[in-house]
Amino acid sequence: MVNESEHPTLAVVGATGLVGRELLEILADHPLGRGSMRLFASARSAGRTLPWQGASIPVEQAGPDVFAGVDLAFFCAGGQVSRELAPAAVKAGANVIDNTSAFRMQSDVPLVVPEINGEVLDAFANSDTPGIIANPNCSTIIALMAVTPLHRAVGINRMVVSTYQAASGAGGAFMRELEQQAEDHVAGRPYTQKTVGRQYLFNLFSHDSPIGPDGYNEEERKLVRETHRIWNDDSVHITATCVRVPVLRAHSESINLTFVEPLYEDEARELLVDAPGVRVVDDRAANRFPEPAEATGLDEVLVGRIRSDLSQPPGMGLDLFVCGDQLRKGAALNAVQIAERIFVRSLAGASGPAH
Ligand SMILES: NC(=O)c1ccc[n+]([C@@H]2O[C@H](COP(=O)([O-])OP(=O)(O)OC[C@H]3O[C@@H](n4cnc5c(N)ncnc54)[C@H](OP(=O)(O)O)[C@@H]3O)[C@@H](O)[C@H]2O)c1
Repeated sequence: MVNESEHPTLAVVGATGLVGRELLEILADHPLGRGSMRLFASARSAGRTLPWQGASIPVEQAGPDVFAGVDLAFFCAGGQVSRELAPAAVKAGANVIDNTSAFRMQSDVPLVVPEINGEVLDAFANSDTPGIIANPNCSTIIALMAVTPLHRAVGINRMVVSTYQAASGAGGAFMRELEQQAEDHVAGRPYTQKTVGRQYLFNLFSHDSPIGPDGYNEEERKLVRETHRIWNDDSVHITATCVRVPVLRAHSESINLTFVEPLYEDEARELLVDAPGVRVVDDRAANRFPEPAEATGLDEVLVGRIRSDLSQPPGMGLDLFVCGDQLRKGAALNAVQIAERIFVRSLAGASGPAH
């Protein structure tokens, strides 16, 4: 329940992780961060402190009884922790914004990218009954930021996505092992393989999520089913190949579209220039297009290589290349934007959202 006269008391569950720390960085300068902050992680981190707005806050062990007085809890500690603790947080009176896949396909839990289907949050913003809101999968958010304006204009009939996903998308330990392998390489040592379980440096491999009997891995399935849910449209044909590349941060995606009605390259470029949260980087003369190093730390999703698919009838197909920081728009920033929509009353009178 939100007290209109005060700033909400926040909690971050998984505060020591990559998404948790990105959340703290965004919230530190955000009107929502003016209330109290509670930080939670596993027993391993209990007793540590983390910097917050010039002070240090202790990290507490997460558990079902810790949420009294919390208005808004961001969950980013894995699906199992969300399944166990998010209902307890709601019971204690907190709204939950969940970064994991635990509740994304649950019909009473909105799955939201505010620029795309933010209106589904109006019920939360006008209610004093707390609940859970799900943040979509990072590759899905990044793809949909680029393709939704085109889908709205002419309808997408088919979408083929190939991802080039960064190490940090799999968490801090995964990213540190890629850095460790770089150090091993320079030192001439065998590559450390404790977390990733294979050579990652100078290599790439099929996404590390479970693979099903149909040959699709879980990341690929998420991209399909979450897109259908966010667009509220199961009719779009979607297929994906998700690959982990030795990039530290920011996912890249090659996207091929088939349209219902024709959309020419220049029209698509104009739509993307006007799209909120999107920046067009498409300089053919200089061969400058989206790159993960450039997308790192940015709020916007970068879109380029915008070109008609010459294998399709004129105007009926388009190719794009997209890069987005999966820790920001793919996770923490999207979660904060959701919070802006549901805590609109608390933010009224503040200087306004930072993003
Ligand atoms: N990384 C991304 O780009 C990204 C993007 C979108 C969504 N997500 C999702 O966000 C979640 C977090 O990802 P991440 O990359 O931040 O992972 P991470 O760097 O590995 O951090 C995991 C966090 O979860 C905490 N944790 C683990 N077990 C716990 C337990 N039993 N109780 C309480 N806290 C526990 C860890 O605390 P300790 O320090 O105590 O171990 C740490 O704070 C995952 O579900 C992931 O799928 C990640």
